[in-house]
Amino acid sequence: MKKPIADAQGTTKRIALCGSESAPARPSRVGWSNADIHRCGLADAERINTAIAAAVSGMREDDFERRTHFIGGRFENLYIERTRIPAVLPVLDQALACAGLVLGRAPGTLRCGFWLNLTGPGQSTSEHTHDEHDEMLSGVYYVAIPPDSGDLILYDGPSTIHIEPCAGTFIFFPPHLPHAVETNRSALPRLSIGINIGPR
Ligand SMILES: [Fe+2]
Repeated sequence: MKKPIADAQGTTKRIALCGSESAPARPSRVGWSNADIHRCGLADAERINTAIAAAVSGMREDDFERRTHFIGGRFENLYIERTRIPAVLPVLDQALACAGLVLGRAPGTLRCGFWLNLTGPGQSTSEHTHDEHDEMLSGVYYVAIPPDSGDLILYDGPSTIHIEPCAGTFIFFPPHLPHAVETNRSALPRLSIGINIGPR
């Protein structure tokens, strides 16, 4: 994991999730952030991610239940029934387990909503927040992350945090925290899963 480039307020900080240490199965706090930001891992992520990416690559527009946030020529949020992608189920179970530990609540008292964010070469995700309803915690899980396909940018008070994603890792953050994703400068699609955790 890279060290932040500066600790002073009003600065840009950078972190790379892929490193010598793999993400733990239990959440750990990104300690130098102002906001409560956590990372978490997933067991058997490589196999699960291959299955999710294969399922999504075979999908057409009308496979999606709903497509929203039409910005910059693409729908940023693609909603699909979880039963259409069985490989996503362990991701959602782990999201609830990690969120339960972050929030100090039993996973059974929480529910997990999700959507796909499929970003092609040259595409990006505009700045937004997730605090639309009763969300308690938000997150993202990384499925397919080609090199140079775009950092997650979190606007953390006076600081801006650039997180270089890593497939098989979750990042959790407060729903009100503004964030965006840089332009995908690779030649391949970048696939992540957006997550909102709320009360059951
Ligand atoms: Fe988001």
